[in-house]
Amino acid sequence: MTSTQDGSVVIFGSGLIGRSWAMLFASGGFKVKLHDIEQQQITKALEHIRKEMKALEQSGTLKGSLSADQQLALISGSTDLKVAVEGAMYIQECTPENLELKKKVFSQLDLIIDDKVILSSSSSCLLPSKMFMGLKHVKQCIVAHPVNPPYYVPLVELVPHPETAPSTMERTYALMKKIGQSPVKIRKEVDGFILNRLQYAIISEAWRLVDEGLISPSDLDIVMSDGLGMRYAFIGPLETMHLNAEGMSNYCERYSEGMKRVLKTFGPVPDFSGATLENVHQAMCARVPADPAHLAARRQWRDECLMKLAKLKSQMEAE
Ligand code: NAI
Repeated sequence: MTSTQDGSVVIFGSGLIGRSWAMLFASGGFKVKLHDIEQQQITKALEHIRKEMKALEQSGTLKGSLSADQQLALISGSTDLKVAVEGAMYIQECTPENLELKKKVFSQLDLIIDDKVILSSSSSCLLPSKMFMGLKHVKQCIVAHPVNPPYYVPLVELVPHPETAPSTMERTYALMKKIGQSPVKIRKEVDGFILNRLQYAIISEAWRLVDEGLISPSDLDIVMSDGLGMRYAFIGPLETMHLNAEGMSNYCERYSEGMKRVLKTFGPVPDFSGATLENVHQAMCARVPADPAHLAARRQWRDECLMKLAKLKSQMEAE
């Protein structure tokens, strides 16, 4: 049974990702302090979290074993950085993806934190060596990159700076596990981390196939959503290879020549512009018009699908 935990967590930036992190930490019983430069952002975030938690509780999908009211009581907000950081054991930075801004934020924090707190960034693609360069507390710094929406998609990529202490990685890993996320340890920083490198490889080939007129944009998406994606929700590409033959070695014996032949035909990095962009844009708008109301409705549907998938995954893992 989840009970409240010692030490508070600071969410630095209460936008889309910050709110989700706040809900996850509260679900694990942690006291959460939301910090932002604007009081209005904090007020909006607290209201959004309250509505979300109540809706999740009603649908029986609220995470953790505390009630929505108990979890909400754990979350507070402050625009005063010193007040927010006092007593914190973990700080999750969620400011916009801008290197100069993040460097400024981390150097501010570097001046007021103790030697124990973990300083973690949600950055999607800024390298730890760039963000944490020159900080006195660099050993305590790490990237914990979530996937949107983090409440439903549990993966968190943990990316160390070359000087990050192994204990920072281990403590962050344990904390992510505690709040029900699925952390992975990246051993050395690499541009795009792992998830986006895989994602960009797929986007890039998808774009080239449409560009060459080999398939329509909507059929391309079906290849993923009704094909590869079905199994990738449960097993990764490497285990897929292992299961699609008599083990991995046998798969490579059987298929490596074919894979290498096809891979050699892959084209250059696309430009993501011009006629192909127009074609893909039109096809996507035919499915989901690109106005805020349609996009929000489709995102909500996506989140419901992900929530149900998460339920199915945990049932299947328990079997
Ligand atoms: P957002 O724009 O929704 O929220 C940013 C928040 O930071 C705002 O509330 C803003 O008022 C606040 N802020 C700006 N400057 C500040 C400062 N100096 N001090 C305190 N607060 C400040 O951004 P979002 O989408 O939540 O992204 C945050 C981080 O998470 C980015 O690094 C992004 O790359 C990463 N991320 C985003 C994902 C996404 O799909 N949106 C997915 C995974 C990671």
